[in-house]
Amino acid sequence: MEKKRLFSGIQPSGKITLGNYLGSISNWIGLQDEFDCLFSVVDLHAITVPQVAKELRENTLLLLAQYLACGIDPQKSTVFIQSHVPAHAELSWVLNTMTYMGELSRMTQYKDKSKKSSDNLNAGLFTYPVLMAADILLYNTDLVPIGADQKQHLELARDLAIRFNGRYSDTFTVPEGYFPPIAARVMSLQEPTKKMSKSDSNENGFISLLDTEDVIVKKIKRAVTDSEGVVRYSTEQPGIKNLLEIYSKMTSESIEDIVARYEGRGYGDFKADTAEVVAQGLRPIREKAEELLKDKAYLDEVYRDGAQRANSMAGKMLRKVFKKVGFIPRSI
Ligand code: TRP
Repeated sequence: MEKKRLFSGIQPSGKITLGNYLGSISNWIGLQDEFDCLFSVVDLHAITVPQVAKELRENTLLLLAQYLACGIDPQKSTVFIQSHVPAHAELSWVLNTMTYMGELSRMTQYKDKSKKSSDNLNAGLFTYPVLMAADILLYNTDLVPIGADQKQHLELARDLAIRFNGRYSDTFTVPEGYFPPIAARVMSLQEPTKKMSKSDSNENGFISLLDTEDVIVKKIKRAVTDSEGVVRYSTEQPGIKNLLEIYSKMTSESIEDIVARYEGRGYGDFKADTAEVVAQGLRPIREKAEELLKDKAYLDEVYRDGAQRANSMAGKMLRKVFKKVGFIPRSI
């Protein structure tokens, strides 16, 4: 039986965090044998917020290096940079003409973002979910590993697939979400009721995959907790709950076992050990990423090869779509 196709991507908009790692990339590693995977560095998405060109270039290569350092294997999976496959922007245009304004205005992420960046309410931010639908639909994707914040966007991709198939003829696979058995939603270390974010203005709120060990230790020691003084897994103690989830994900040890070990002990030991576990776990990834970043020729080879494979798949789909829409076939 053919393997199911799986697609996911992360924006190269700044340094990725422990949240991206535990919530996304670490779950992708084990999927590479079971599924036919594509992992993209979605730079077209990143420019929906202002970027400095030089930094975007650096962040794109850095994210690619981090994918590889975390264990994404370019022999098994197609790893590519979104802007290297023009079909993403092209399909996105066609899908734009089939998406209703109302659908996009209902997107909660757009509503949140537009509140925060009212000085740069560009059309790209509004049609962002259409580009994401194009990413997914170009490859006949069956499964999309996503967090809860992307569910609404995936729903749009499904609706657009169904709409196009209905208006023309069967063309796109209708994708489904893929949710890892143990979903980790890593929260801010400073405001543990909010998701950990790389764009947090308070650097102590997040751990970057590039943070050195002493920075990690410092940030976890400063993590906001509560005055209960008991290491327990409870929604009433969001700070401790978050640290327990981080600890458990990093070590694959059950939360119950961890809680049992800290019975009758204060937060000091627990925080110090959590910091140790995170620092030790991230060290090989940081070292590997740094090593890869020095080998530009290798990174170049990886993204060129990925672009070739992705272009060949996406090009086929785009030709089909253009034909159905009524465009005269082109020679390039
Ligand atoms: N919008 C996603 C995010 O911000 C990133 C993304 C872009 C994506 N295209 C995708 C995720 C396709 C999954 C599939 O997290």
